[in-house]
Amino acid sequence: MSEASSYDGRRFSFRTEREAPLVPGDVVLIDTGTRERYAGQVLEHAVTDTGELLGLGAVLTCLDADGHPTRGVRRPFAEASIQAATVDLLVSMQQSAGAAIPVGTWRSGHLETPAHLKAQGFNRHTFLCGQSGSGKTYALGVILEQLILATELRMVVLDPNADFVRLGETLPGAPEEVAQRLRATDLRVLRAGTSGSDTLHARFSSMSPRSKAAVLRMDPVADRGEYNTFMRETADASRHGLTSLLDTLQRGGPDQIALAQRIENLGVLDWEVWAKERPSAVEIIDSGTRITVMDLGGFEDPAEPLAVSLEVLDSLWANRGSRTPTLIVIDEAHNVCPAEPASTLAAAVTDRLIQIAAEGRKFGLWLLLSSQRPSKLHPQVLSQCDNLALMRMNSPSDVEELAQLFGFTPPAMLHAAPSFAQGEVLLAGGFVPAPSFVQMGARLTQEGGQDVKVPVTKVP
Ligand SMILES: Nc1ncnc2c1ncn2[C@@H]1O[C@H](COP(=O)(O)OP(=O)(O)OP(=O)(O)O)[C@@H](O)[C@H]1O
Ligand SMILES: [Mg+2]
Repeated sequence: MSEASSYDGRRFSFRTEREAPLVPGDVVLIDTGTRERYAGQVLEHAVTDTGELLGLGAVLTCLDADGHPTRGVRRPFAEASIQAATVDLLVSMQQSAGAAIPVGTWRSGHLETPAHLKAQGFNRHTFLCGQSGSGKTYALGVILEQLILATELRMVVLDPNADFVRLGETLPGAPEEVAQRLRATDLRVLRAGTSGSDTLHARFSSMSPRSKAAVLRMDPVADRGEYNTFMRETADASRHGLTSLLDTLQRGGPDQIALAQRIENLGVLDWEVWAKERPSAVEIIDSGTRITVMDLGGFEDPAEPLAVSLEVLDSLWANRGSRTPTLIVIDEAHNVCPAEPASTLAAAVTDRLIQIAAEGRKFGLWLLLSSQRPSKLHPQVLSQCDNLALMRMNSPSDVEELAQLFGFTPPAMLHAAPSFAQGEVLLAGGFVPAPSFVQMGARLTQEGGQDVKVPVTKVP
C-alpha cells in the first residue's frame, strides 16, 4: 500500500513498500480520490525497521482530468494514493513547461524519456559544474548545438582549450537537415595568429581607459603616478593606440619615460592579440555574427586572452542598451572570473563579469559558465546563477557548497553526484520543468579536443 498526505498542498509525506520503491528525484502521481490529482517529486526517503519506505516530497503541479499539468490550487490531502509517474506524465510536464530542446534522456525511477530544456530558461545565468572528465565540455557542446538549432540567440563562446572550434562541422551520422542548418548558421571561429581571416584580436585604441590601464597592469591607487600620466596622455584621441602613445611618451619628461618603460618591459607592443589592420573580435561580433567562438589558447602571453576577453565583455556591456539576447558561454570559467584574481587585468575581467552577472539579465546578457568546482569561481558571479547543471562530483565539501548556493535543488539529488557516470547530469532551475537526472545525448558536431588516450603496448 502506497499512500501520501499533505498538510499544506506544497510538501507531502508518503509511505510505500520496498517492492514499489520511490527515491529522490522520482516524479510521482498523487491521486487524492476526489477530482484532484497532482504531480509530485520525491525529495527524501528512508527505510524503516519493518522494511517500509517513508519519505517526503514536493507537490509540483495540479493535473487535469487527462493527466496534463494545469494551473490550479494545490490543496492539503490525506490518504491519497501515490505511484511512480508514467512516461506520458513526464512528456506532458515538459510540453506544458515549453521544454523542447532535446539534450538527452531523463531518468525518473525505472522510466526513461527524452529530456528537453526550456529555451526561455536560458534568460538567466547557468552554472555547469563537475569534476575533470565528468563530461562538462561534451555536455556544453550538446547544449550549444541544440541552442544553435532551436533558437536565434547570439552566442559568444570563450573557449580556452579549442574545444568548440569545430562546432560548425557535423559528425558523419548527423541528420542532413542538421548539417544544412549548421552550414547556414553564421558561425565564426577566431583563433590566435596573424594570417588568415579568422584571427582573434583586441584593439587597444578602442578599449576603455580603465581597461587599457588594466592591460598595463596599473592600479589607480598603487600606481597613481603612472596611472595619472597615462590618463593625461591618452586624453588626446591621437594617442589612443599603443604605438603612438609610446612614441609620445619616449619624447616626454621623467613621468612619461617611466610609463614608456612599463609598456616596453611588459612587452605589450609585441602581443599577437592586437588587431592593427585586421578586424577585432568586437568588430566581428558587432557586424552581426551570430555565433563567435573565441579560441583563447595559442597566445604566448597569458595576459593576451584576458585582454581580448575584457574588450569583448566591455563591449557587450557597453552595448547592453540594444537588448540583443546574447548567451555568453565560458568553459573553464575560473580563468576569467576566478575567486581570487591574480592580476589587475584578471580583476578587471572578473569585475565586468560580476556586473554582467548582477545586472545583465534585464538587458539580455546571459551567462553559461562551466567549471570544476564552485569555489574556483568568484562568489558574486556564482550567486547570480539560477540554473544548475551538476555532473559527477566526488568532493563532499563541493556538493555541500552547491547545496548552499542552489537552494532550489533537492539536497538528496545533489548528494547523488559522486555516483554519476560520465555524461550523467542533475539539472535544476528554470530551464527544466523539475529537477531531473539526465544522461546527456550524443554530440552532432565534432569535438575540438578529446581526452588523450594512454598508448598501450600491442601484444603480438
Ligand atoms: N556523454 C558523453 N558521451 C561520450 N563521450 C563523452 C561524454 N562525455 C564526455 N565524453 C568524453 O570524455 C572525455 C572527457 O569529457 P570532457 O572533456 O567533456 O570532460 P570535462 O568535464 O570537460 O573535463 P575537464 O574539467 O578536465 O575539462 C572526452 O574525451 C569526451 O569526448
Ligand atoms: Mg572541459
